[in-house]
Amino acid sequence: MKNFQIINFKKIGNTDVGYLTALEENREIPFNIRRVYYIYNVPKEIERGFHAHKRIKQVLICMSGSVKIKVDDGNEKRIFELNNPSKGLYISPGIWREMSDFSQNSVLLVLASDYYNESDYIRDYERFKKNLVKNDEPR
Ligand code: TYD
Repeated sequence: MKNFQIINFKKIGNTDVGYLTALEENREIPFNIRRVYYIYNVPKEIERGFHAHKRIKQVLICMSGSVKIKVDDGNEKRIFELNNPSKGLYISPGIWREMSDFSQNSVLLVLASDYYNESDYIRDYERFKKNLVKNDEPR
């Protein structure tokens, strides 16, 4: 797995009957799923996220509507538009993320590798950049 990458899930079905996508831990989702949460009813001018995780891995799936996810590994920044429930965006620990342009009725589902724990967050961008320098030091 790269630090962030799109995962294309299998779609079972067809246009006549519709589709089903199944996600299993350590199969389609590259970790044990300890937590599921979802973000919804976000006004379109609102931006969320603005943090990195120290250890938690996540897969973000836009179940309905669309949303933009900006990811930043400290060197490279990329923006992904999620608008298809058959695609997930995997984000490894140590990646800064920002979410914006939530469409009306969008629902962003997040699968996470661990329970909620505020001490796993890095919410300060300067600290994120400093940690990065530390991580790059030879061991
Ligand atoms: P946060 O992760 O900062 O949301 P976002 O990145 O979408 O802006 O979380 C917002 C609030 O919700 C914060 O007070 C912590 C709380 N929270 C939980 O209690 N459990 C959870 O699983 C998550 C993700 C957040």
